[in-house]
Amino acid sequence: MPINLLGRSFLTLSDYTPEEIQYLINLGAEFKRLKMTHTPHNYLEGKQIVLLFEKTSTRTRCSFEVAGRELGMGVTYLDPGSSQMGKKESIADTAKVLGRFYDGIEYRGFDQRNVEILAEESGVPVWNGLTDDFHPTQMIADMLTVQENFGHLKGIKFVFMGDCRNNVSNSLLITCAKLGMHFVGCGPKELWPKEELQEKAKAFAEETGATITFTEDVEEGTKDADVIYTDIWVSMGEPDEVWEQRIQQLYPYKVTQKVIDNASDDVIFMHCLPSFHDLETTIGKEVNEKFGDKYDLNGMEVNDEVFLGKHSRVFDEAENRMHTIKAVMYATLK
Ligand code: CP
Ligand code: NVA
Repeated sequence: MPINLLGRSFLTLSDYTPEEIQYLINLGAEFKRLKMTHTPHNYLEGKQIVLLFEKTSTRTRCSFEVAGRELGMGVTYLDPGSSQMGKKESIADTAKVLGRFYDGIEYRGFDQRNVEILAEESGVPVWNGLTDDFHPTQMIADMLTVQENFGHLKGIKFVFMGDCRNNVSNSLLITCAKLGMHFVGCGPKELWPKEELQEKAKAFAEETGATITFTEDVEEGTKDADVIYTDIWVSMGEPDEVWEQRIQQLYPYKVTQKVIDNASDDVIFMHCLPSFHDLETTIGKEVNEKFGDKYDLNGMEVNDEVFLGKHSRVFDEAENRMHTIKAVMYATLK
């Protein structure tokens, strides 16, 4: 059956079949090829998109802007302070207005429900650029990166270490289940995903041959892993007060060379970025000043040895955000 995603929103991977996800990954690879061979691909000339950001961003914003322009579209960016949305105007009213101006809407913010309302009320495709619950565009880039390294996705042992119920880990759980991969969430039990999401992933896994494991044991969890993935310990929107407890909970799950050595010889290290892998950031320095006497925080979720080491693919992964966001927009708007 040919894949047709025209007019669809992209809110969470749960809404997409394995074939549709694979199609987007392969389309991302094709857009990467077009860019590398300097082949023009302004296939969406004349269309207009708007990018709504209620949280900060480097990769996602720049990916949507560059991808939109290279596809020939006009792009409007609205930062958290510069629209009426949510403050003087409801999300639903905003959606109805923007749907009359634009062919597609990107939203990064807090509540997953907001991106659903935008999709329900705007009448145009809406792309989730990260909410508190999910980060679906990150997934297509991540899976393209895995595919580039191993040539396939099915059967890959994919280990997420750290806060296993954040937006990125939730999305990886669903994506791995949909694609027949072996997902391991390695972190403290109190930070495992909601039971409901685990059940949903298990149901997908039954259809694809995927397996899903959660463990607190680093040695067992990371043994022979093909991919070791981590993310920051405190996500956007969480209060600063959680740092102390989160460091206590997640310090044992820092990705070090010992973790990499326990994995497969060809393991790749991945991170959605941004990362606190050194002390070159304001927040990294502040957290180190407060808690650095008890913990080695020169590198929180991962240290430089791994982040800059030969197994790391973090910057390929970041680049793939742009190619794969192009794929998502093209597939839903062409
Ligand atoms: N990975 C990611 O979404 O990065 P940004 O927060 O910079 O967009
Ligand atoms: N979990 C992180 C991902 C950033 C891309 C956050 O939400 O801040």
